[in-house]
Amino acid sequence: AQLPPHVLVLFGATGDLAKRKLFPGLYALAAAGRLPEQYAVIGSGRHSPGTDDEFRQQVRDGLTDSVEEYDEQVLDDLVARVSFQTSNADDGADLAAAVTKAEDGMGDDVRRLVYLSVPPSAMEDMVAMLGREGIVERARLVVEKPFGLDLESSRSLDAALKDVVDEEQVFRIDHFLGKEAVQNILALRFANGLFEPAWDRRSVASVQIDVPEDLGLEGRAAFYESTGALRDMVSTHLSQLLGFVALEDPGSLDERAVRDAKAALFADLRPFDPDRVVFGQYDGYRDEDDVEDESDVETFVALEAFVDNDRWQDVPFYLRTGKALAEGRRTITLRFRTPESPLLAGDPGRNELVLELTDDAVISIDVRAKKPGPDMRLTEATFHLDLGDEDPAEPLEAYERLLLDVLRGDQTFFTRADEVDRLWQVCQPVLDARPAVHPYEQGSWGPQAALDLPAGGWRLGG
Ligand code: BG6
Repeated sequence: AQLPPHVLVLFGATGDLAKRKLFPGLYALAAAGRLPEQYAVIGSGRHSPGTDDEFRQQVRDGLTDSVEEYDEQVLDDLVARVSFQTSNADDGADLAAAVTKAEDGMGDDVRRLVYLSVPPSAMEDMVAMLGREGIVERARLVVEKPFGLDLESSRSLDAALKDVVDEEQVFRIDHFLGKEAVQNILALRFANGLFEPAWDRRSVASVQIDVPEDLGLEGRAAFYESTGALRDMVSTHLSQLLGFVALEDPGSLDERAVRDAKAALFADLRPFDPDRVVFGQYDGYRDEDDVEDESDVETFVALEAFVDNDRWQDVPFYLRTGKALAEGRRTITLRFRTPESPLLAGDPGRNELVLELTDDAVISIDVRAKKPGPDMRLTEATFHLDLGDEDPAEPLEAYERLLLDVLRGDQTFFTRADEVDRLWQVCQPVLDARPAVHPYEQGSWGPQAALDLPAGGWRLGG
């Protein structure tokens, strides 16, 4: 169905996320004919990038940098719809006027999409301003993570949101949930007779959710100094992955059912035990621009988690992520229990299901098989499934898909207030205890203490 006319307001429109993801996402949706026929984009922020024309030029340059083969006409059309209006938490009157003006002639069913890509410390005041100025009316509000910096500040942000909008208007974005491969976890689990019955404590010995990054700070020191890896990645992306891997069958793909199932799982997720958390910081972090000389911000986290329900009781979930590590990967591994069998004497090799969360979703399964030859010896063989080859149809980039979901009003792959609250409860013991931060070498797999965390070691880098 054709989408109603929209006015999009992008806070942080001159920032890194807008340049790398949001404008390219809009471009891709425009090129695929997936945007409403009538729409306008108003960039906003505290500092003016110059005249509207200068801002348009910036957006255009950003797009021609990042979009590989672009269509000149689509680009012209998108850029022509863009303008800029300064605003800040104390003063949004001009922005409110600009929004109303942009809506002129778009008809009665015009909607607003307001994208808040602002630092956690600024979020609450911005939300209050949007309420005061009436900008939230008819609006869907996209809020970037982290949602607060701990349990208390997240509750205060949530109260500020509830003051001005209903939960149905709030789209807390976690871009990992827009990744094709993450959504594929549901398909794999619930549509296959081979996997569905095996997805529990009787068959699975442990689970690893491993997101090492080879990149460093990439100019985001100011953001990182106030967050660190636990808030940036674990309380959000990695926990959400755990939610999708472990949730009970939602019974339907309805947005409410999926989010209820995930929230129920998080309710059973045991608060992290600080004694089973390893923090690390890469050598040289303190020498980076805008980083404190004595900073003890963690650039690496590895931890052990448990879900206290019938399906997962006593099955450890190992989560790991960090900057400046040996490789950039996003890998989920289910390690299966080893059956009692005389065949399994010696080193039987691995039996693991591995999901690579790459754009086109790669799944592999390591199984034990008989090594060809006169004796009964085992070898490890691997099934490999590359969905990119199977169906090159039209994978959407994460931000692109999620922007489309906001335009359609579909909240399935956005985080609900109760999930966020619970995940802060789960993280809070670690925030309170502040585990010691171990140094690690750039290009390594993190501190030694983390290598020993899972019994049997990590799948990656082992
Ligand atoms: C962001 C984090 O949300 O996700 C970054 O703030 C991180 O620190 C990034 O690098 C990873 O996302 P992706 O999609 O590049 O794996």
